[in-house]
Amino acid sequence: MKLTIAITGASGARLGLKFIKHLPKHIEAFVVISKSAKISLKLEHNIRIKSYLQDNTNIHIFKENQIQAPIASGSFLCDKMIILPCSMNTLAKCTTGISDNLITRAFSVMLKEKKDIILAPREMPYSSIVLKNMLKLSKLGIIIAPLSLAYYSKQTTLEQMEDFLIGKWFDLLKIEHNLYERWK
Ligand SMILES: Cc1cc2nc3c(=O)[nH]c(=O)nc-3n(C[C@H](O)[C@H](O)[C@H](O)COP(=O)(O)O)c2cc1C
Repeated sequence: MKLTIAITGASGARLGLKFIKHLPKHIEAFVVISKSAKISLKLEHNIRIKSYLQDNTNIHIFKENQIQAPIASGSFLCDKMIILPCSMNTLAKCTTGISDNLITRAFSVMLKEKKDIILAPREMPYSSIVLKNMLKLSKLGIIIAPLSLAYYSKQTTLEQMEDFLIGKWFDLLKIEHNLYERWK
């Protein structure tokens, strides 16, 4: 499976990197990290992306201005896309069809090709504009799956809570995993 993972500048950009770390090896990952995501990763976690992901194989990393990347074209036949986390800025651009960087262009391509797309918005609280944007995208078939905590699989640490969230996104993308204990 070819999967695009876009990381934008909302809080929790580290979750996007952790999601990539958990990906099974058979998935070919096309990763775009926005300029703002790099800033938030540095400020929130002091993370250097290349060293964080250095053990992962099958990953291609792009800058947001690399508009010539394969995922910018429908002919590349990417299968699925997730924007994790999705900032309100990128969400608004996706809603209105703006394609001004590799993330929003890849989104537009996946939308026109009618491929599976998941957005994981991060904001608190949501404004009416954001709620309207999310409804519009949901009606277009995009799955809105925010960073939303749950406690039913007995998570007690932040690590376990993050694994739970990643497991939920994997479920939506039909990626097998063992990241949280399912409700029985
Ligand atoms: C540490 C930090 C945390 C941020 N958290 C959020 C957030 O949770 N949600 C959000 O929409 N924007 C957040 N922002 C603001 C975005 O980074 C900003 O709107 C930026 O323009 C988003 O650009 P992008 O969509 O191209 O990544 C945060 C910024 C910083 C520096």
